[in-house]
Amino acid sequence: MKITFSVVFFNLIIFTTTAVATDIIYDSAGNKLLRGLPYYILPLLRGTGGGLTVSQNTKDSCPLNVTQESFEINHGVPFIFNPIILDEEFIRGSYPTLIEADVQNPCHGSNIWKVSTAVLTKNDDDDDDDDDAHFRDHKDHDKKKKDDDDKKDVTPVSIVTTGGEFNKPESCFQIVENDMMPGLQSYQIQYCPFKCGSSSSVLTCYNVGLISDADGKKYLAPTDTIFPVVFTNSFGSVKSAKTLTTFSQLSAKVTSFSRSAK
Ligand SMILES: *[C@@H]1O[C@H](CO)[C@@H](O)[C@H](O)[C@H]1NC(C)=O
Repeated sequence: MKITFSVVFFNLIIFTTTAVATDIIYDSAGNKLLRGLPYYILPLLRGTGGGLTVSQNTKDSCPLNVTQESFEINHGVPFIFNPIILDEEFIRGSYPTLIEADVQNPCHGSNIWKVSTAVLTKNDDDDDDDDDAHFRDHKDHDKKKKDDDDKKDVTPVSIVTTGGEFNKPESCFQIVENDMMPGLQSYQIQYCPFKCGSSSSVLTCYNVGLISDADGKKYLAPTDTIFPVVFTNSFGSVKSAKTLTTFSQLSAKVTSFSRSAK
């Protein structure tokens, strides 16, 4: 089991850009991912946290952030997929798709994902001045600390929030197959503004993965790294939704997928 996991991890490092177009997207039970129905979005790999959810720092902050549950046992909240172009009952790979949280939203506006700008608290541990900080007098040290804080607080980043609109560039996502583990379907969500009415000539899709703030909270965001996910239906039995919580069970699934693929 450990060997299998190392191989997976190895692949994760090597094949960072192997996301390929695929025809039909499947859920973790091997059924077509259906439009308009709720699914949990879970990380493929064990030990990398729980499912995606929506969160609100304080009662008044809006729109909601799309974040990851810290604990693997938590599946987060269900999300709904709707292709923007095709009127089919299932979701195809590489087609512009709207993704929406299936929750009661305390904010005005929609549950539709969009890419927004936010400022995350950052931890700059690699500051090389830290080592000799104790040689400074108190005042200098405080001043330096304040400068650092100021610097930390102004770096805007893109993160995924709710509040999007249908067929707008900032709400334009797609799912592509992540060719990481033979026989097991896992997917990469991408952000593709040009596929939904953008006038930009930049024909680029960006991987959607996780970025952390200083507190270790993980936000969904356009990022260079991959985030292999599986979709688990939340409308079927709870039992099936729980089959992905341990790696051994996941591996059992891999085996059965490989067999059925032959
Ligand atoms: C989303 O995260 C950003 C950055 O941490 C924060 O400023 C904002 O208040 C959060 N939004 C909500 C709804 O909590």
